Amino acid sequence: MIPYSRQLIEQDDIEAVTQVLRSDFLTQGPAGESFESALTSYTGARYAVLFSSGTAALHAAHFAAGVGKGDEVITSPITFAATSNAALYLGATPVFVDVESDTGNMDVEGFEQAITPRSKAVVPVHYGGHPVDLKGISLVAKESGLVVIEDACHALGAEYRTTGSRGRGVEGPSEAQRPRLETGDDWIKIGSCEYSDMTVFSFHPVKHITTGEGGAVLTNRSDYYEKLRIFRTHGITKDPSKFRLQNREPDGDWYYEMHALGFNYRISDIQAALGMSQLRKLDRFVSRRREIAERYETAFTSNPLFATPPERSYAKSSYHLYPIRLSDKLRRNKSEIFSALRKAGTGVQVHYIPVYLHPYYREMGYKPGICPAAEEFYQREISIPLHQGMDNETVDTVIKFLRRSLNNG
Ligand SMILES: Cc1ncc(COP(=O)(O)O)c(C=O)c1O
Repeated sequence: MIPYSRQLIEQDDIEAVTQVLRSDFLTQGPAGESFESALTSYTGARYAVLFSSGTAALHAAHFAAGVGKGDEVITSPITFAATSNAALYLGATPVFVDVESDTGNMDVEGFEQAITPRSKAVVPVHYGGHPVDLKGISLVAKESGLVVIEDACHALGAEYRTTGSRGRGVEGPSEAQRPRLETGDDWIKIGSCEYSDMTVFSFHPVKHITTGEGGAVLTNRSDYYEKLRIFRTHGITKDPSKFRLQNREPDGDWYYEMHALGFNYRISDIQAALGMSQLRKLDRFVSRRREIAERYETAFTSNPLFATPPERSYAKSSYHLYPIRLSDKLRRNKSEIFSALRKAGTGVQVHYIPVYLHPYYREMGYKPGICPAAEEFYQREISIPLHQGMDNETVDTVIKFLRRSLNNG
């Protein structure tokens, strides 16, 4: 089976992990800090905090944003359940807004209409690696005082163009707040947080780079940075300048304080070393993903059976996914087409069942029909294999199987 995505581990990755296994620290050693620092250099953000998964990173970002009981968190339903679950963990209510019918990304007008006095944060998802219109979202969020948390679990290595988007002329952060940019001209890396408060990444093996399980939050704000760090380690601080208790006798160098109900969401040094080694190859991996997308685009252009994923002028997708959308005629046969492709050895997948259609959400009162474009997107969408380990021959095999299955469909 040709998987829809998978990790690419090379000899130097194995050596990086082995080195940590021979060292003194398997966790809470120097590898974590090195990887965090490399992530800030890559994205241009000031701070990075590693977590044990993208889900833990999302949870922490919502905590740092101050999301709590009674708050609403606006997001889109074409995502993995972890995105909106983060609001639920903190007692808040996810509010789903509809998506653009072609990119599957949050619709900016829909977002604007969903804002209420209870809205606390907006969590746009860069679906499939294609950036959302960050400036558009940032402008609307700023007008209503919402925290912007990018769910960029699909979009490490993607870029966003700060001119030419539909952002309606929103100003970026002041010069004093501006992060260091690595990309030149008007393109910024997703993760720079130039138009958001925090950005969340995942390092699951199907993502661009992997640590086995793992994630990170990027931010330019020191207050969020502090909260993220404390949340990762049980809500405990060892920094004397932050201690709250005045009369604490007896105490000494062992002393620490717990200030919040945090978790053990740390990543090990073994994983961080793998991440650091993988990050060095990220640009190569993204380039290969873009080459494969181009090969698909050339093979499938103007075909009547399905639409290929678009790329907006403000977006350079890092192609976590290659989501095709079946035509009106074929969408009714999606289930048969999916099974035939799997049977032929093409490891297709569907991204995603709109989150609010899951029983857990329905039992909370969410009903079908909330986001019609998302439901239609789901009915049409199939993700075909795309990952950095695919050679051209494998790509051409997928093209052949797809043509065959769809022509019979
Ligand atoms: C959009 C999105 N958000 C969050 C997550 C959660 O990341 P992780 O699996 O690292 O916990 C995923 C993982 O698939 C995802 O696709």
